[in-house]
Parts: sequence; C-alpha cells; structure tokens
Amino acid sequence: MEEKKVMSYEDKLKELDSQFGDWWKHGFDVPEMTANLYPYEKMFSPIRINNLTVKNRLVMAPMGNICMAEETGRPNDKMIKYFEERAKGGVGLITSGLIPVSFGIDKSLYELGDLSYFPRIDRSRTVYAGWRDLAAKVHAHGAHFFVQLTPGLGRVGNPQCLVNSLQFPRSSSFNPNWYMKDVPCLRLSDKSLKKIIKNVGQGSADAKGLNLDGVYLHGHEGYLLEQMTNPAFNRRVMGKYADYERFGIDMIKEIRRRVGKDYPIMYRIDLSLMLNVTYKEKMKTVSPLKKFKDERTPEETLTYMKNLVEAGVDMFDVDLGCYDNWWLPHPPSSMPAGCYLDIAEIVKKYFAANGIKTNKGLEVPVVAVGKLGYPDLAEKALRDDKCDMVMLGRPLLADPDWCNKAYAGKVEDIRPCIGCQEACINEFVEGGHPQCAVNPRTSYEDEFSQEIPKADKSKKVAVIGGGPAGITAASVLLQRGHKVDLYEKSTRLGGNLIAGSIAKIKYEIKNYLKFLEKTVEELEKNSNFKLLLGTEGSLETLKQGGYDVIITATGTSPVRPGSIEGINGENVVAAIDLLQNPSLAEGKKKIVVIGGGVVGAETAYWLTFEYDKEVKVVEMDKYIMNHTCTANRGHIIHYLEEAGVELLNCTKLVKIVGNKVVVSQNKHKNVPNPYNTWAPILPENVENPMDLLRKIKDESVERELDADLVVLAMGVRSSNKLFFDCVANNVAPEVYNVGDSFKGAKIFEATRSAYRKARSI
Ligand SMILES: Cc1cc2nc3c(=O)[nH]c(=O)nc-3n(C[C@H](O)[C@H](O)[C@H](O)COP(=O)(O)O)c2cc1C
Ligand code: SF4
Repeated sequence: MEEKKVMSYEDKLKELDSQFGDWWKHGFDVPEMTANLYPYEKMFSPIRINNLTVKNRLVMAPMGNICMAEETGRPNDKMIKYFEERAKGGVGLITSGLIPVSFGIDKSLYELGDLSYFPRIDRSRTVYAGWRDLAAKVHAHGAHFFVQLTPGLGRVGNPQCLVNSLQFPRSSSFNPNWYMKDVPCLRLSDKSLKKIIKNVGQGSADAKGLNLDGVYLHGHEGYLLEQMTNPAFNRRVMGKYADYERFGIDMIKEIRRRVGKDYPIMYRIDLSLMLNVTYKEKMKTVSPLKKFKDERTPEETLTYMKNLVEAGVDMFDVDLGCYDNWWLPHPPSSMPAGCYLDIAEIVKKYFAANGIKTNKGLEVPVVAVGKLGYPDLAEKALRDDKCDMVMLGRPLLADPDWCNKAYAGKVEDIRPCIGCQEACINEFVEGGHPQCAVNPRTSYEDEFSQEIPKADKSKKVAVIGGGPAGITAASVLLQRGHKVDLYEKSTRLGGNLIAGSIAKIKYEIKNYLKFLEKTVEELEKNSNFKLLLGTEGSLETLKQGGYDVIITATGTSPVRPGSIEGINGENVVAAIDLLQNPSLAEGKKKIVVIGGGVVGAETAYWLTFEYDKEVKVVEMDKYIMNHTCTANRGHIIHYLEEAGVELLNCTKLVKIVGNKVVVSQNKHKNVPNPYNTWAPILPENVENPMDLLRKIKDESVERELDADLVVLAMGVRSSNKLFFDCVANNVAPEVYNVGDSFKGAKIFEATRSAYRKARSI
C-alpha cells in the first residue's frame, strides 16, 4: 500500500493561505445556524484547568475593553454589566480584553494627561474594587474569569506618544511602528524588560487576590510579548533576551512564583505569524516586511510551547497571523468559519505525540478560536478532537445568550455575528468603545435592561421599510406594547441585505437575513403587528392610516451621476442589480467596476472568484475600501491581488464609450500602493506628519479600459423623501427617520438608531 505523505507544518500553512481566498471550493462549509448535532453533549461537559473546573467548553475570547473603564483604569458599571450579561448567558470561562501592566515603560499606553483608555489592574486600591465587583457578579452566574495581561503594545501601539510626550515608542528591537512606518521604536533595555516581568507577576498576584480565576498571557498577533518572543521582531544580538524564548519563559516562572502552583495560567499564541506564507516574494523587497522575514517557524513555536508548559502554563489558545496580515488574527466575514481548527489540532496532536502534560500531570487543553459561532461546527470540532475548548469572541457580542440558546437547542434564535467588525473593532479604532452592529445593547447593558419596558401609552405606529432598521424598530415597538404596521414595498424583507447576501463571502449576512425573517415570523404571532409586504407606505396611505407615530426606515438608493457620458449605456449596470441578477454578466468576460468602496471591491471579488471574470476596479479615492476595518479590507485586497485583479486608485471615470471605459489615472509616485495590506489607513482625524512630505501631485493620464460590462458601485444616498414629505404634511403627531435613510449605509448605524428611537417611544 502506498504510504500517505505527512504534510509538513509549513505546507499546511501554505495550503491554508491558498484556500482562504475561495475557501468554499476547498472543503470549508458555508455554515448555517442548524442544530443537527443537538444535544451538544461535548460542548456542555466540564473541563479541568489546573485546580479549576469550568462548567462547559466555551470560552469568551478576549476583546479589548477599550474606553469601557474609568480613566483611572477601574472597571465601571458599563464594563461589569457587559461581562455579567455574558456570564448570565451561560459561557463557562470569560477572559478580559488586554490589560497592560507596563505603563511608563511602553510609551504608547498613556494618552495626553496620563489618561488610559485601558482598564488597569496595576494601580492597587484605586482599581481593585471594580475587579472584585466584576468577579463577584460573574461568579454568581457560574462563570469563571481570567484576566488577559499584556506586557504592552510595542510597535503596534499608538505612536502619538512622540507628539504627546516627545517619547519614541518602544519594542524588542528597532522595529518600525505599524501605524506610521516612519516612526521607529526604540529597543527596550533588559532592565525595562525585567521590570515588565515583575509587573506581570504582580498583576497576576493581584488578579488572584481579587478573586479572579486565572491569568492569561497576550502572546499572539505581534504585540510586545510576541515582539520579544518571535525572531521576526526580536533581532537582539546581545543580552539575556537575545534568546527569543527567554522573556516568555521568565515571565511564566515569575507568575508561578507569585501565584503558587494551583492557579491557572493560560497563554495565547499564534502557531505562525504567516508573514512569509502571506507575502512570499514581497518579504525580500517591501519595507518594512523584509525586516521580519526570520519569523518563528511552526516547529519552533511548538518547542517554545513545550517549554512554556514546563515553566508553568496550563492551557493555550492558538491562532495565526499578526497586525501585518490582520485578517488572520481578526478573521472577517469573508473568511471561512472555523478557519483555525486545523491549527488547534496540530498543537493538540503535538502535545499528545510528545507526552506533554502540565505540571499538574494533566493534558494541556487547547482552545480553538476563529469564527466558531455555529453550534454544530463547534460541537463537531470538540467531538472530532480538534480542540478541547471553543472560544467565542464576536458571537458573544452579537448574542450574549449564545451558550444558553445552544444548550436549550434554540439555535435558530441565536442572533448571528456578521463578521463586519464595524462596531466592535472599527468603533474603537475610530475612537469609541466596542459595540455590535447587530446587537444595539452590547456595551450599553448598563443603560438598557434586557427586558424592554412597556410604554405608558400604547400608540399606533407605522414603520416604513423592512430592512434591518425597520425590523429592529418594529420588534422593539411591539415589545413596548404599541400597535405596529410594517410596510415593505418589495415582496421580500431585508432591504439592501438581499443583494448584500448573494456572494459566497457574504454567508454571514445571509444567516442574519434568515434571523431577521424569523424575527418577523415571531412578530406575526402578535395581533398588534401587521406585515404589509408589497405595500408602499405612501404619503396618502399613511395619511389615511391615522397613525400616532411614523418611522421611516427607507434605506438608500445607488448614486449614478447622470452627467457622465455613457453612464446610462446598455452595458452599464448597478452592482446591486447585477448581484440580484448575475445573468446580466453572462457572456461578458472583461468587467470594469467603478467604485472601490466595500460594495465595489466585494462585487469585484464575487465576479472574480465565483464567475471567473477579468475584473478591474476604478476608485477616485487614495485608497480602495477606505473606512473599512483593516482586517476586512486586507482579506479582500490580498486575494484580489493574488487573482490578478487590477486596482486603480486615484483614478476618475471620464466617460464610457461603447465597450471602452475612459479613466483619468493619477500616476504620481506618491499615489499609495492599492495592494498595501500590511499597513492601516489612519482615521481621518489622525495626521501623519510625514504625509506632508509625500504630497500627491496631479500627474493624471487618460487610459482606456476594455469593458464588456461596466458595474457601478459609486456609493449610495439616503432615501429620505418620504420622511420630509411626512413632516411637511403633518401626517402624524410624531415622525422619525432612522437607519440608512437618515445616514447610510451601515447595519451598525441602522440597528442602533432604530433600537434607541423605538425604545424611547
Ligand atoms: C473588538 C475586538 C477586540 C479584540 N481584542 C482582543 C484583545 O484584547 N486581546 C486579544 O488577544 N484578542 C483580541 N481580539 C481577538 C479575539 O479575541 C478573537 O481572537 C477574534 O475576534 C476571533 O474570534 P471570533 O471569530 O470568535 O470573534 C479582539 C477581537 C475583537 C472583535
Ligand atoms: S460588530 Fe459585526 S463583527 Fe463585530 S460582533 Fe457585531 S456583528 Fe460581529
């Protein structure tokens, strides 16, 4: 019999990288919220971690509690209620977001005025009471809590310390800052590093003293702990920490010394940064990637993990990637569900094959992470022995009751995360705190009770528009005790989500759409609710309806600038129409997409990977997919590049003549590389002073692009006419406008405004 060749770890990573673009062709399922494996016996079985027994196999992932604590760092009501709600929702183990303990050493941690946007544990009594309250409230619901301690941010921290306090950021070696490549990080001294180790030990002892149940080290994604423990970033040639394992091992030993042998220590690690696998030849030529080419190999990671266990680690969770390929540690909607199950399995098998046990003589639990919010998928991963526990991050932001609903088999009731990262990651990148696009209560649990209170007076309300905003408003209004008519002029609920759920990479939107349809099915059981599908809520109808309140949630319409020659030609179609009727692209090979925002780029992706078209994308902005989470943007752009899609930024549409698209493309040397996925686009209010030296001059040249079909994705405008007409005509005593028809076009803004408004009526 022919012997089956065992794939090397490196080849496995290469295989995953080659599959993550069109994963649905490579055996990854397009998952749905099914309960085929119910009851979830494995998921709801206990597990031991050191001396702690956790009631089930579900772990809430660390998600930075940025701006959720007081400026002293003390956890406040917002943060405590947020965690309590997840504990109440049935998860066995909760982890905090990253909690730095290197203030004063990592210069990027302080804001102006020595304020902190992180919760802190290193401030002694000023912050202790918050943590004790948190522990007590989480424990009351049977959940345990680990605090994620981080030695710092290093090169991935905010470089504004340079301006705020004339301090350079710090890192393991002279690494460029991730946000601004021109800002170098200074090398941390051995003395500072020893101080950080002491601080982590103290933070751990404090965590134990505060009744928290374990500590969790933030060793992945290229943060400072990884900068010290990965030769990609640690290029020190002298001193104790030139050995890249040393910092991590010493830290674990110090924690053990401070907390004793029975207290759980968990460590978060990536099996590989995946930089070489992701960027291939670019690792030799592109600055700063070429600095990082000597990354830790998977074999070296596994050896390091073995040594960490010997030093005292009880448990790991494992993923892939770092900031410079951010779609890996933060897999967006377009990535496959369960993307890192094979990575967890590699670690599990390695521990088993090498007989590696914790110092307590237990097997080392391996936690899998990455888009596991589908109960069948999670249960199968546990049953197949791919992992010992399943970590849920965003799924618990979207639905804090995920675990209870899975336990009860009410899987269809789970509100699915859509992977957008609009409200969780992007919100804090832009200056806010994590929230959720599909769950308007996330991070507002202190303000909004779970039960929606009844209104003093029942009103007759018309909601116009059956998209996410309209459905959210209708559902809340009904719970308030009002009578609700929901008008939707088309014959299907969903609004823009219908076109937005067509592509394979939009499977999570499809699941959300199903969830919304189910929500309306439930509403229909209430005699106070009327669904008027295929019915336009016209001014006349509304006038005659005798409503107390009108809420318009009428969405958006696509922009088509009529002044451009040829824009209404036969071979020109709006992206939204093409998505719903792909036959319009039949027989057309060369396609030019006008507009490189999210809709344009995702439509290009769909046409390339599902229909094998030759696509070019034209965008007048400096960046493709501007104002999109770096991780979501990175995944799409990286694989568009791999597929040979030409992206033309700083390029304007001039006219369309027959099957030629005439564009004016700026060729100036400072036009950014549209395929740059290793650096973020800074928020608009953050100025990179170096950009002043890199002004883009106009060196536009005209170009003709062949196009059998032109697809327009030039943005949308709010459809707000009905709202203003209702106001002008005094159609009802109260008239409100929510969602995209107020300000487009994000699910986050739609559900948030609809929920808040409806709760106030
Ligand atoms: C809003 C947000 C904040 C995050 N902050 C952290 C963090 O503080 N520490 C960390 O190790 N990972 C952090 N992550 C990564 C998550 O822990 C998790 O690995 C990732 O979201 C993938 O899991 P999921 O698909 O279940 O969300 C964060 C993710 C999100 C969405
Ligand atoms: S904001 Fe989007 S990605 Fe983040 S948890 Fe909510 S639905 Fe998921």
